[in-house]
Amino acid sequence: MNRRYTRALITGVGGQDGAWLAAQLLSEGIQVTGTHRPSSPAGNWRLDELGIAAHAGLKLRTLDLGDPPACRLVVADVAPQAIFHLAGQSRVADSFRDPLGSVQANGVGTLNLLEAMRRDAPDAHFVLASSAEIFGSPEKAPQDENTPTVATSPYGLSKLLAHASMNSWRASFGLAASSAILFNHESELRDVAFVTRKITRAVARISMGLEQELSLGNLDARRDFGYAPEYVAALADMADRDTGADYVLATGHAASVREFATAAFASVGITLEWSGVGEDEIALDTLTGKRKIRIDSSLFRPVDAPLLVGDSAKARTHLGFNPRVELEELARRMVEADLERERRGKTG
Ligand code: GDD
Repeated sequence: MNRRYTRALITGVGGQDGAWLAAQLLSEGIQVTGTHRPSSPAGNWRLDELGIAAHAGLKLRTLDLGDPPACRLVVADVAPQAIFHLAGQSRVADSFRDPLGSVQANGVGTLNLLEAMRRDAPDAHFVLASSAEIFGSPEKAPQDENTPTVATSPYGLSKLLAHASMNSWRASFGLAASSAILFNHESELRDVAFVTRKITRAVARISMGLEQELSLGNLDARRDFGYAPEYVAALADMADRDTGADYVLATGHAASVREFATAAFASVGITLEWSGVGEDEIALDTLTGKRKIRIDSSLFRPVDAPLLVGDSAKARTHLGFNPRVELEELARRMVEADLERERRGKTG
């Protein structure tokens, strides 16, 4: 594929999306500079698993997004034609423990990078990883680009600040800047802090006899679980366009945490039987009668949207976005990757 850009900057290259995006761009011959926090280790298991850690087209450097001169230095040095801003504090649950830290990392960090682009690479296309959390607990489903933004969690607010900043810089300074309103997207490279990977790693370990059961929080939350590589492909396509826009990236199908867990256990041949309500709900293995899932009330959040499901008609039309991986296949791929890691004694 021929892109309009040959040099890209990816912040947060060591995260799930950063690693997948770097792999895709490198495979297309694009030079990638990826940044990571000064505090994060130089090695990265995701870049290793994708086989790109030592790729000649990939340069890694540290960047503290809270440091405006450092942002300018990196942007001026790299002279990127596309900037993918994926770094930040991505855990909604953590934002209740450190609200200001989340706003600082996601909101102010985005402003610092936008400002660096305005001054040092104004012709680049900026793509922001925004979030469905900017919609808070929306009354209407599905959500699209016109859904009112009423963030409730501190994380949602931090992403709303980033999203609004990008809109402001686009309008005020004529920058090509796009906001990808990302609904949940998962993969083999997901961090274990998120519910899908927490489940798939536990399923792998339970099926190998290394663990007995799994504790979860809100099973009723319904999310639009997509497959991350399909989403980063859309980010790459956004940066190819002349002008910036907002795009919802979602599959359009919602599933509860309970349904994802059921699918993940089914992929290793364990059929769950659910019983009880609220904090007393449990899931038993129908074959052995042993408990596999219980509720830990400390994992519930002060606010948690009951349903986030997106309408990505605009991205489908403008970008050809067409997510295909469905829930059962997603769970199966993630469990398989975790089984493989356990067999090799690797963590991820
Ligand atoms: N993490 C976690 N751990 N979540 C749990 C658990 C648990 O043990 N039990 C139930 N849940 C529920 C959460 O309450 C939430 O409703 C749902 O599972 C999904 O939680 P996460 O996987 O942590 O993701 P998230 O929805 O909070 O955030 C993800 O999606 C956003 C876009 O919608 C992240 O990828 C964000 O960075 C992203 O912006």
